Amino acid sequence: MREPIRNGPIQNEPIQNQFDISGLDLPDILGTIHEEVRPRFGEGRAADYIDALAGVPLDRFGMALVTCDGRVHEVGDSRERFSIQSISKVHTVTMALQAVGDALWERVDREPSGDPFNSLIQLEYHRGIPRNPFMNAGALVVSDVILSGYGQPEQALLEFMRSRSGSTDVGGDEVVARSERESGFRNIATANFIRSFGNIENEVDAVLDFYFLQCSLSMDCVDLARSVQYLARGGYCNASGTQVISTQLATRINSLMMTAGTYDAAGDFAFYVGLPAKSGVGGGIVAVVPHVMSLCVWYPGLDDKGNSLLGRYALHRFTQMTGLSVF
Ligand code: DON
Repeated sequence: MREPIRNGPIQNEPIQNQFDISGLDLPDILGTIHEEVRPRFGEGRAADYIDALAGVPLDRFGMALVTCDGRVHEVGDSRERFSIQSISKVHTVTMALQAVGDALWERVDREPSGDPFNSLIQLEYHRGIPRNPFMNAGALVVSDVILSGYGQPEQALLEFMRSRSGSTDVGGDEVVARSERESGFRNIATANFIRSFGNIENEVDAVLDFYFLQCSLSMDCVDLARSVQYLARGGYCNASGTQVISTQLATRINSLMMTAGTYDAAGDFAFYVGLPAKSGVGGGIVAVVPHVMSLCVWYPGLDDKGNSLLGRYALHRFTQMTGLSVF
């Protein structure tokens, strides 16, 4: 049994905006980034280990940001939907924390792994406790927590995504979900391995189906930037007008994104971008400037760690031009 976490009282008051962004010409900054990335289209590789993602053309780039006072700025293919993949791990860890609170940390740790997102290697040493909720092993345990904690888990996930983004028709892509399962040998192995330690309670197939559904959700940059705005606004979601989680928990999820949101490149992202971010192998990355804005960038060509190559560049240029890194 791990030592229980002792937290102070929950802080619910959103912290006041610490940054004045009135002097920033955000449309101009996004336009500059778009100009810079366009000549680099074709760089990187689409996620070809999933058949349904292999053919995505490398001439798409979109970027959107939503400020805490509700302004939206966007550029390029910001309204084209793509497979959100592991970005959904931000939303599912939020749902799991809503369901079981700090008890989640008895089943998933909060440490960066330094290993690829689909690695099993540390699970043996840690007796089936994944290093963090953003690697596949952790997300599978999170799926299990959601299956146990919600009456209709798949419906609850869709409702969560729709309420956070304000987009009522967000849904899964069956072709992608099927393709995930067909090529999902490592995830199947990971889920079974965790179950062997007793850290998955439900049927492995049900856990995997939920996980593949969350990966297959299709959304655009504007939807996705909106969907994580509660993390920029101290847990408050503009789209639904509700406090989704406590301010303290929003801060904590941001810290997890900073330390583990971009796989084994989280250190590089902190160094190069300086924002809490979560990537997916569909080429999307969401990022949060606490108390200021949330962002999403999409370019399907990935680098060797599985992060969007031009997405990473775009976020780097964004924090460089705006000074909005958290450091
Ligand atoms: O588990 C997979 O292989 C994918 N469906 C999700 C991969 C992804 O985006 C990166 N995961 N952390």
